[in-house]
Amino acid sequence: ESYDMGGHDTYMHKEISEQPDAVDRVLRGRIDERFATVRLGGLNLDAREARTIRRIKILGCGTSYHAGLIGAGLIESLARVPADAEPASEFRYRNPVVDPDTLYIAVSQSGETYDVLAAVQELKRKGARVLGVVNVVGSAIAREADGGMYVHAGPEVCVVSTKCFTNTVVAFALLALHLGRIRDLSVSDGKRIIEGLRRLPEQIQQILQAEAEIKKLADQYADAKSMMFIGRVRGYPVALEASLKLKEISYIHAEAYPASELKHGPLALIEPALPTVAIVPDDDLLEKNRAALEEIKARSGRILAVAHQEQEKADHTVVVPKNEPELDPILMGIPLQLLAYHTALSLGRDIDKPRNLAKSVTVE
Ligand code: G6P
Repeated sequence: ESYDMGGHDTYMHKEISEQPDAVDRVLRGRIDERFATVRLGGLNLDAREARTIRRIKILGCGTSYHAGLIGAGLIESLARVPADAEPASEFRYRNPVVDPDTLYIAVSQSGETYDVLAAVQELKRKGARVLGVVNVVGSAIAREADGGMYVHAGPEVCVVSTKCFTNTVVAFALLALHLGRIRDLSVSDGKRIIEGLRRLPEQIQQILQAEAEIKKLADQYADAKSMMFIGRVRGYPVALEASLKLKEISYIHAEAYPASELKHGPLALIEPALPTVAIVPDDDLLEKNRAALEEIKARSGRILAVAHQEQEKADHTVVVPKNEPELDPILMGIPLQLLAYHTALSLGRDIDKPRNLAKSVTVE
């Protein structure tokens, strides 16, 4: 790849830094202030059709699957349509029930991932309507889908996805707002989300400015053999993605659990040698999350919290700016990209080309 690194040592660092501009691009020209909604011409889905959707199923692989999980949450909370996400290859091989009232959405940075493409083709063969949420314009999945939206993250070279993940989640917020305003969402909620979306680039910039602090934390945690990531509801896919990022580039074993599931098993693992990264937004689940931190502390586990305010039980807290609760997962993921990055850097890993991985897996 011959894109200019623009003064960065790695593409990953460049791509993390580009996020404020990338988010600006995915928003540009789409917001309709007057009707507190979003215009998405490429969806090929009129208002009448949008009202008949009973369910939304999102399919993707790797980081795109995680973006889809956050997307499903956004769709459920803003559009009140039952939605979930599933790895595309799992879906393909379980002879899924293809339902005419379900809208299927395929998510892919490259638009070429074979498992996703094959799922789209299978769905189309069975008469389903499939939209694409894709970065690469004119890619196979974009061409195969009945419509969709481009996420406009720009070229992503590092094997692991950062800016495209963030932009994909923002694209889902736009889609959720669009569907919400056709269905149930009030004008005031529409405006609230639009204002939140507009604040994102600056808030991401603010988080990026804390890089030196996050680097120090990464140096402290880089000796871990394994790390636990926890979050609840909206925070859980953030934990999943952060743990994947750490695994991919640092080769440190990591796993993500819903905080509520700790007591049903993984609590047995907690000891000083297994640090936990906890996603702790200031929302209606704050007290529940704090209780989980207490459980971990009682077993002498080290805790790094990503939160809207200092967490007393945590050994370290990375404080991120607050947005609207629905959009907070977008911001909470950013410091954890930097955590994975600096952990991998301090371990001397080949960050842009991690072992055994390819940017896009175009074979089965
Ligand atoms: C590969 C990459 C992952 C990526 C996944 C899906 O496995 O290593 O980083 O998330 O493919 O790629 P896509 O282009 O479909 O988003």
